[in-house]
Amino acid sequence: ASSAEVDTSKIPLGGEIRVLIGGKPFFVRHRTEAEIAAAEAVNLSKLPDPQTDDERLVPMMNGELNRAILVTSGACTHLGCVPVGPAQGNTGDFGGWYCPCHGSHYDTSGRIRKGPAPKNLPVPTYAYLSDSLIKIS
Ligand code: FES
Repeated sequence: ASSAEVDTSKIPLGGEIRVLIGGKPFFVRHRTEAEIAAAEAVNLSKLPDPQTDDERLVPMMNGELNRAILVTSGACTHLGCVPVGPAQGNTGDFGGWYCPCHGSHYDTSGRIRKGPAPKNLPVPTYAYLSDSLIKIS
């Protein structure tokens, strides 16, 4: 398939769903208040690939941001390994994801913070079909 629908209401708080689309992995994370606050508090000048958390979110149908749901590629921007996360009990030094292949650490917005990966986990094209249903394409 070249797209996938995810019911975000099924994702436990602090957890994520992993989906494969055309063989490529994607993460849909249900962030806690603390994770959202951490993502928003970052000084952009400290980021290797500067992006605000807001820039990494897609608005819901009413135009508002759903800060609880973060959607990213699941392929490390170094050499493409799939990072581990909350379900594997290792979210790295910045609370997001950790790539065990060569030690890249991503934050709770999926931004690269430490290690050899050069870029943030890309945000795929996706849209809200309802308050809780998203379609990643
Ligand atoms: Fe992730 Fe190298 S592939 S750190």
